[in-house]
Amino acid sequence: MPEPVEWLADGTPRSPRFQDIYRSTTGGLAQARHVFLRGCGLPAAWAGQRQWRILETGFGLGLNFLATWHAWKDDPQRPRMLHFASLEAWPVAAADLLRSAAAHPELEPLAQQLAAQWIGLLPGVHRLSFEDGHVLLTLDVRDVQDALRERSCRADSVFLDGFDPQRNPRMWEQHTLKAVARHCRRGTRLATWTVAGEVRRELVQCGFAVERTEGLAPKRHCLAAVFDPAWSPKGAPAPTEVAPARCVVVGAGLAGAAAAARLGRPGRACRPGAPRLAGHRAGPGRCTGGRRLGAARRPVGAACVGRRRPAVAPDPLRRAHDAALRMHVPARGR
Ligand SMILES: C[S@@+](CC[C@H](N)C(=O)[O-])C[C@H]1O[C@@H](n2cnc3c(N)ncnc32)[C@H](O)[C@@H]1O
Repeated sequence: MPEPVEWLADGTPRSPRFQDIYRSTTGGLAQARHVFLRGCGLPAAWAGQRQWRILETGFGLGLNFLATWHAWKDDPQRPRMLHFASLEAWPVAAADLLRSAAAHPELEPLAQQLAAQWIGLLPGVHRLSFEDGHVLLTLDVRDVQDALRERSCRADSVFLDGFDPQRNPRMWEQHTLKAVARHCRRGTRLATWTVAGEVRRELVQCGFAVERTEGLAPKRHCLAAVFDPAWSPKGAPAPTEVAPARCVVVGAGLAGAAAAARLGRPGRACRPGAPRLAGHRAGPGRCTGGRRLGAARRPVGAACVGRRRPAVAPDPLRRAHDAALRMHVPARGR
């Protein structure tokens, strides 16, 4: 069941679960641009970079994602690849995503594409792909702390957006913010609309240099921070980049096929059509048990074994996609 959203008379979306609004009354797009994009120095920070990874806590109605995607599309200096990873325990219905974006005509075509892929969001990791694979959305459907514990991406920007800290302390407590810091490299910029003293103090403890910046009415301030700890951050290692080449994916089960498909997309480490699947005893698309595996249009998160519907999104597929992503080498231009 999708998470219910209550729409107030002035068009503001509200969460009955948290008794809080999804975005400022000034409007979601203005907030996304002022607080999150500007707070992280975007789009200037990604100019000329090969790829840019954003980590968000709380996908909600997806406005931050849509605004970021729109900024990426609009920017001639955009990175070849934008990877937006967002953590969300309670996904809303596609109709609510569309209703939320409807107030912003420039976002509507993007919202339509997002809604078209917004299916089967079981607990687990889902990868949605747009712009021929140049914009990826990884949606981790589970509690923020569980998701952060298991993820190993390295973020270039972080958007903290998880309802009011008073109403939803779990999104802001030390444990969560420490886990966020583990996904940062030195220089990762973080933005949020709250300037709550407790949140600022926790961020400083975690190694962020924190600054209060001009807010968006009705808020006087918002918060921008840079990860610059006094110690050597451990974090995830930088992804290995390899020159475009031919490769063989050993194992032609569903995960192998997914990795080959990902690698074979335009602009990936392998030239189109190059990945070869080294055969599987039972033949491509068959697991060792000889059961037929079927993948729906979007393999990660929509795979089924036999007729049974999984209770969680299958992890091996996500791992295969992640491995293929790490081998991603953007070529010049788009
Ligand atoms: C303010 S909304 C996010 C708005 C969103 N960034 C946007 O652009 O529309 C906060 C989101 O955090 C999610 N959330 C709250 N607590 C969570 C938790 N413990 N784990 C994961 N998600 C959580 C809520 O379900 C909600 O969708």
